[in-house]
This record gives sequence, C-alpha cells and structure tokens, in this order.
Amino acid sequence: MSATAVPVDAPIEVGSSDSRPLAVVTGASSGLGEAIARRLSDRGYRVLLVARRADRLAALAGELAGAVAVEADLLAPEGPSAVLAAVDAAGGRLSVLVNNAGIGGRGTFAEAGYAGVRQTMDLNFDAQLRLTEALLPAVRAAAPSSILFVSSVSGKIARPGAGAYSASKFALNGWAEALRAEEGAGGVHVGTILPGFIATEGFPQRELLAKRTTRWLVGKPEMVADAAEHLIRTRRPERHAPPAWRLMSLLAAVAPRLVARIVAAPEMTPSTTTD
Ligand SMILES: NC(=O)c1ccc[n+]([C@@H]2O[C@H](COP(=O)([O-])OP(=O)(O)OC[C@H]3O[C@@H](n4cnc5c(N)ncnc54)[C@H](OP(=O)(O)O)[C@@H]3O)[C@@H](O)[C@H]2O)c1
Repeated sequence: MSATAVPVDAPIEVGSSDSRPLAVVTGASSGLGEAIARRLSDRGYRVLLVARRADRLAALAGELAGAVAVEADLLAPEGPSAVLAAVDAAGGRLSVLVNNAGIGGRGTFAEAGYAGVRQTMDLNFDAQLRLTEALLPAVRAAAPSSILFVSSVSGKIARPGAGAYSASKFALNGWAEALRAEEGAGGVHVGTILPGFIATEGFPQRELLAKRTTRWLVGKPEMVADAAEHLIRTRRPERHAPPAWRLMSLLAAVAPRLVARIVAAPEMTPSTTTD
C-alpha cells in the first residue's frame, strides 16, 4: 500500500473540530512535549496531552482548540490503558503518537549502578513500548499515520556520567528501527527525533548557558517541534534537532576517538533536575 502523509498544514475546519485527526503527545506538561503539542494543534490536530501534572495539562488544553488533558503516570500499570481510554472517548482517528516523556538519568555506573540504569530505562524505554503497544491498533487503523519517538543525540554518542541515559536512547533507536521496518508496509510511519542540548525544565543546561563559549550549543524547544512536523510531513526515519547535530553523529561514526575526547569535557554532560 502506498502511504501518503497526513497533511500537517491542513486548516482547522471551524465548527467541525471533532473531525480533526487526533495526536497523542506524552510529556506535554512542559518542555519539548508542550512545544510539539502546540505545533500539532496549530497544524490542525486535536491533541491529547499526556503527563502527570493535571494543572499544567488543563492550562495548556485551555489554550489549544479541542485539546484534551489526559492525566496519566506512564510508569503505572494502568498508564497505557488510561491513554487508550481517552483516545476512544475522543473518537476519530489517531493519526499521530508522539512518545516524548523522559528523564535525564545521570551518574556514573559506579555511583548509580544497575538501579540507576533500570530507573531510566523504565520511563525512557519500557514506558514507550508499553504505550505504543496499547495504541498500535488505533494508529494502524488510522494509516497513513505516524509514531514519533523523542530520542537524543545521546542515542548515537555516549558520554561519561550519562550511561543510563544513553542506554535508554540507544535501545529506543534500535527498537524504533525494527518497528519502522515492521509497520511501514501497513502505512504506519515511525520517526525518531534526535535533539541536541535544548533548555527545558528537566534539562536546564545551566552549565552550557553559563559560558559564552558553549551558550550557542543550546537550542529551543521549537526546534524539536520543527523536527516533528518535518518527520510527519516527509515520513523520513529520523531528524536531528537542530539538524546540524547530524554532523556530530556522522563524525562519531567515522572518528569515534575524536568525538569521545570532545564529549568527555565535563560541561558536555550538564546536570538535569533528576540528579
Ligand atoms: N532537553 C534536552 O536537551 C533533550 C535532549 C535530548 C532529548 N531530550 C528528550 O526529550 C524528552 C522531553 O524532555 P524535556 O527536555 O521536555 O524534559 P521535561 O521538561 O522535564 O519534560 C519531561 C516530561 O515528561 C513527563 N513525565 C515524566 N515522568 C512521567 C511519567 N511517569 N508519566 C507521564 N509523564 C511523565 C513530565 O510531565 P509530568 O512531570 O507532569 O508527568 C514532562 O512533561 C525526553 O525524552 C528527553 O530525554 C531532551
């Protein structure tokens, strides 16, 4: 079957908001998820906003036409089924699923150990699989449709002090690649977003922003919304955000020792609010 992208620049039809395609965005209460949700709403989607902080979601839902706040803990056993129930209640076709919720996962292995890796994998990897499993039938039924994963440049390049985080994002990239090959023929596009350093609540990038020499490395959440929009429109497999980070990933493949030296600098592993 030939798959065509759902037009993300379709105008909102006034008076028929329920006929708009649905988009689920996890981690929509702040940072990158909020920026993606705003963008998809601007582009004509009815957005289901998923996170734990109900007050944040309600405030955002109030700004976005027809948006629905879905309070859910994606680590809880009933998290995925709560999101599926919200999709069913909203009606219509689930054209886009954005798996974005994630945490930083810092600390060396000697400090954080297996428990640190496990905690990071639980949200950044396992929870994304569980939600995708619950929503896959609905996304398939809506084909041509898209599943996006917010991974990281850390899913291509590992740094000291961020091994748990890299493990979760490398795993996500590999699994998404297989899912892409499995679902493509049925019209479900699977896209991976690889952000670099973006200042958000969870990843404030304090160390990089403090210095004139590194401030320029820090991007804005809207760059990730650009990448999401690009992937949905083009149905390409992956997009760095901003796109220039692709050069670093390519350099890591051809000159791994050089890149290992660059990322070993302490400011290249800024602290997160989960530290
Ligand atoms: N910022 C960066 O530099 C950067 C770079 C590369 C990749 N990323 C990735 O981008 C994604 C978003 O990060 P961000 O920068 O936007 O961070 P953020 O501002 O801390 O946002 C994280 C989001 O995840 C939600 N969340 C956390 N635990 C959850 C749970 N158990 N159930 C449901 N939702 C949960 C949070 O909402 P509640 O607390 O309300 O539940 C929040 O909305 C992550 O996957 C991160 O790894 C970020």
